[in-house]
Amino acid sequence: MEKMGIVEIPVLTDKTFNDFRELIYREAGITLRDTKRILISNRLRKRIIALKLNSYDDYYRYLTETGEGKRELPNFIDAVSTNETYFYRGDNQFGALREEILPKMFKKRSKINVWSAGCSSGEEPYTICIIIMETAGITWKGEIEIVATDINTEVIDKAGEGVYGGRTLKFVPTGLLERYFDNLGNENYRIKDTVKQHIKFKCHNMLKQDPPGKGFDIIFCRNVMIYFDKNTQGELVDKSFRKAISDEGYLFIGHSESLMGKTESFKYAHVCKAPIYLPITREE
Ligand SMILES: C[S@@+](CC[C@H](N)C(=O)[O-])C[C@H]1O[C@@H](n2cnc3c(N)ncnc32)[C@H](O)[C@@H]1O
Repeated sequence: MEKMGIVEIPVLTDKTFNDFRELIYREAGITLRDTKRILISNRLRKRIIALKLNSYDDYYRYLTETGEGKRELPNFIDAVSTNETYFYRGDNQFGALREEILPKMFKKRSKINVWSAGCSSGEEPYTICIIIMETAGITWKGEIEIVATDINTEVIDKAGEGVYGGRTLKFVPTGLLERYFDNLGNENYRIKDTVKQHIKFKCHNMLKQDPPGKGFDIIFCRNVMIYFDKNTQGELVDKSFRKAISDEGYLFIGHSESLMGKTESFKYAHVCKAPIYLPITREE
């Protein structure tokens, strides 16, 4: 038995852990490793208390066998997804954006469309927007439109609030904190409307729903596909991302990720040492 204040519940068994694993795989494509077991049981315990249930088994049955379970599913997904992120994460990639990709786009385009897929609490799309604004300076006066999506409802709410503090801001370059954030005191900062106005946040499951638009110049999907198996990654990229990206677009994935042997519709491009993929166009 585990003690939860005055409530005691039986420990999470192998069988129920596997049931939860299958459920999160079915609903979000996420593969849960054994190493996550303690973390997951701690997070689910909070839901069990909140719902006044008695065990992990009860919670699994509640999720899968009851009408209310459908409404609980987003809380389950929120509890088991990993949302680690911070501003200016993966600076090589932003270097490629700043030095090569944006200058080319500014010459040809009056609008830049970006999809940040798996945006977590918003640090990635806000960083992209600040970099586009900084690189544009006073010379490019086009429109910026960023759609930022995540399956987790809590992080999407946080992203919309745009209030941050602590280590997530550690890599924001000097001077940019003052330029793009309002200081709320107590080391908390709110992203300014001049940035926020370019970004639409949406709750969206990239494996189950159509892409949130078409003709994207840039898609960022970083540190998300590591939680998906190889086939799921291939399908996501070849079906959804290829449909969503323009023929001249750029797909950014995380540093530790690779699409080698998984995609038929994108090829690797060497841009400032960053793992970037380009759509293979029909003529090639
Ligand atoms: C580790 S965070 C990465 C955040 C950001 N892209 C970065 O690199 O800093 C992974 C995010 O992917 C989201 N995610 C996982 N599965 C998803 C799915 N099927 N559809 C949409 N988002 C998903 C999680 O909720 C989480 O916020």
